Amino acid sequence: MARQPIAQAGTPDEDKQRDAALRPRLLHEVIGQNAVKRRIEILLKAARKLKEPLSHILFDGPPGLGKTTFATVLPNELGTTIQMTSGPALTKPADMLPFLTNVTEGSILFIDEIHRMPRVVEEFIYPAMEDFRIDIVLGEGMSARTISMPLKRFTLIGATTRSGMLSSPMRDRFKIHEHLDYYTVEELAQIVTINARKLNTAIATEAAAEIAQRSRGTPRIANSRLCWARSYAASESEGPIDLSLARSALDMAEVDLLGLDKQDRRYLNTLIGVFEGGPTGVEALAATMNLPSDTLSDEIEPYLLREQMIVRSPRGRLATMKAYAHLGKQPPNPPGGADQGLLFN
Ligand SMILES: Nc1ncnc2c1ncn2[C@@H]1O[C@H](COP(=O)(O)OP(=O)(O)OP(=O)(O)O)[C@@H](O)[C@H]1O
Ligand SMILES: [Mg+2]
Repeated sequence: MARQPIAQAGTPDEDKQRDAALRPRLLHEVIGQNAVKRRIEILLKAARKLKEPLSHILFDGPPGLGKTTFATVLPNELGTTIQMTSGPALTKPADMLPFLTNVTEGSILFIDEIHRMPRVVEEFIYPAMEDFRIDIVLGEGMSARTISMPLKRFTLIGATTRSGMLSSPMRDRFKIHEHLDYYTVEELAQIVTINARKLNTAIATEAAAEIAQRSRGTPRIANSRLCWARSYAASESEGPIDLSLARSALDMAEVDLLGLDKQDRRYLNTLIGVFEGGPTGVEALAATMNLPSDTLSDEIEPYLLREQMIVRSPRGRLATMKAYAHLGKQPPNPPGGADQGLLFN
């Protein structure tokens, strides 16, 4: 189940359109992720000089941090084309054929959510990644034979929110592995300012900083908060988005000062209120919240972990002192048993 940020009433299609409209086109327009950008810059320069296709690259990191953005910047930089598909859409090897036969020399094939690609499809594309050929079985039974078909030299870009779920043979076939991390408030403020300009919306510096502060370190969330503030400003005032307007808009969207939304707080309230702060397994939490456990572990928890609101222990998730303080709750005594006592010292 996809996370639907609270500060927006958009459908997933509208989200996609907004993502596409606001997505940087070239590498220098990509904000932050400086180390990743520098390495990609080197690879691009080398590919141009050596006239070789770019190495296969795997991007991993939580949703909305720029994996698709990096993938779509590459063909623009190289002046080549990109074909896009995703793991769940590839149910059998034949689903890969149109993409592989359409690749041109040096072009890019992007597979989103690559960890959800079935094993048979994975195995089918190994020779394509290694030797730029595919093996096709013709006929059945005794008369079956395999023919090897050469392909143009292309670049496979994979994106995943769960690199741990990728099989290790698949992971090893990517020569470059880049992890995207959460953004600083300054970087997000820069993204908000640039995107406000793209949307022809005037925004005060402090308002951009406020939106950035309350966007969970994630550009996609910053974009959706910005669009919400823009709608709010259009409806409730005549002027630009200033600090007080941004604050009222975010308060109304129930985004708190740390950028946590209803769903994040519901997670913490469940962990503290129902499970007495843990330790508890993610499955039990997910069942109580009536959400798929993937949504918890891929979308909600990474930011709460980073903010040290929760910790993962061998026995399950635990709420920290910071989580109790943020919700204005009194920790039990001793809090959550001996395990958790350690977190409070
Ligand atoms: N480094 C960046 N600089 C500027 N804008 C960015 C950056 N990264 C992401 N964005 C903005 O955030 C939006 C979402 O990013 P993107 O779609 O690339 O995330 P993703 O990692 O592919 O997410 P998902 O896992 O959900 O597919 C983009 O449309 C773009 O507007
Ligand atoms: Mg993406």
